[in-house]
Amino acid sequence: MPDSQKISEKQSEYMNLIAEIMDIRKRGEKPVAYIRTYGCQQNVADSEKIKGMLEQSGFEFADEPDNADFILFNTCAVREHAEDRVFGNVGALKSYKRENHDVVIALCGCMMQEEHVVETIRKKYRFVDLVFGTHNIYKFAELIVAAFESKGMIVDIWKDTDKIVEDLPVERKYTFKSGVNIMFGCNNFCSYCIVPYVRGRERSRDPKDIIREIERLVADGVVEVMLLGQNVNSYGKNLEHPMTFAQLLEEVEKIDGLERIRFMTSHPKDASKELFDVMAHSRHIPHYIHLPFQSGNDRVLREMNRKYDREKYLSLIRYAREVMPDISFTSDVIVGFPGETYAEFQDTLSLIREVEFTNLFTFIYSSREGTRAARMPDPVTYGEKTKWFAELLETQEEIAVRRSKRMVGTNERVLVEDRNQKSGLLSGRTGGSHTVEFSGEDALIGNFAEITVTDARGFQLHGELIR
Ligand code: SAH
Ligand code: SF4
Ligand code: F3S
Repeated sequence: MPDSQKISEKQSEYMNLIAEIMDIRKRGEKPVAYIRTYGCQQNVADSEKIKGMLEQSGFEFADEPDNADFILFNTCAVREHAEDRVFGNVGALKSYKRENHDVVIALCGCMMQEEHVVETIRKKYRFVDLVFGTHNIYKFAELIVAAFESKGMIVDIWKDTDKIVEDLPVERKYTFKSGVNIMFGCNNFCSYCIVPYVRGRERSRDPKDIIREIERLVADGVVEVMLLGQNVNSYGKNLEHPMTFAQLLEEVEKIDGLERIRFMTSHPKDASKELFDVMAHSRHIPHYIHLPFQSGNDRVLREMNRKYDREKYLSLIRYAREVMPDISFTSDVIVGFPGETYAEFQDTLSLIREVEFTNLFTFIYSSREGTRAARMPDPVTYGEKTKWFAELLETQEEIAVRRSKRMVGTNERVLVEDRNQKSGLLSGRTGGSHTVEFSGEDALIGNFAEITVTDARGFQLHGELIR
């Protein structure tokens, strides 16, 4: 029996045990869990696995922590602001724990892989019952049994892992779309980034496991998948039979009934012509890519250890436009990297003008303990950086408005996701990841619809249903 299968069977036994423990505690009433997820799609996918295991153990889910028997924060370490929010929210649980001794409070995710964070929790947040990291989620059921049975804080953090455990139960947020991990970890060590330290080395899943998972999802009603990894373009390099990401896409493309394939995140160092060729010929991959550039200046890119320069980035964009004239781009950018000058920042602005991204995810540099950039001199004040940041937002806003205005009158295929409670309108996503609101019947939710764009303000569109 494969290792992975043995593990998931053992965890199933723990899930049954949790159900028994909770049944006695709650005298037959259903136990309630509250899960809060910070950070990126990786964490969202992990939380869905955790929820799957809780559901199999008999739990229901609440939108607020009040009355919960189990509270979990799945944390993100990518920027200081994200960490501060987690500490603030955990602190707010102290009085709840004082009044409800039986509740189990757990913390997991990327922050827990940082030693200084765990130390702070041990010292200042002693009411926390369970702390675990990013590498041992698969044994969550076992950990929660231990937490319900013990009095002290349980801490189980692994430094790294080479394991990929398949076949854990999953509780998906949407019935019609799903994230699918194709790889875990990151080997790139961009000098500002904590992710390689908290997510460990890059591991690709076996393509057969990925295809099998997607086939099951499709049989279960899923029409759109998002293939997930920190650098999907380096997928497959360390497999026993190496394959490229573009080849994986071609395999996924063959799955009957799957209507739309998305992926995130691409790295310019590894994005290939082959990838754009596959996208150009595909029936199911939208002509859209999220391709983070981080900075438009070569010296800064070198200091960031990004392993490409401005020209390489722009040549990828040119090639993509050559084979897909209608392609759209979004990106991530960092302002105020240590030592960046105002003149170098201007290169970022000129790159933005040159490419004309439809949307940008913009960040002010945040120093992360243990990374190389954290040890670099950083003379520009935070106040100054916020001014540059404002200039960046203004530049992008202008471009986004101009670009989206061009969409008015065009038709788009959208996957209808839900109804916006405020506006009362249906809300869906285009292939290029724009959100569109339009009026229509609830029956459309979970299906594709054709709309005409009637109004556009930046990344948010309004439309009219055609069919
Ligand atoms: N693996 C992806 C993104 C991971 S984190 C990639 O390589 O593109 C998402 C974004 O957060 C990054 O693209 C970067 O723009 C930003 N980011 C990461 N570390 C940061 C830091 N220390 N300060 C500010 N922004 C950061
Ligand atoms: Fe961080 Fe770079 Fe890895 Fe992305 S590729 S997760 S930015 S180290
Ligand atoms: Fe944050 Fe971890 Fe993702 S640090 S961005 S949740 S991989």
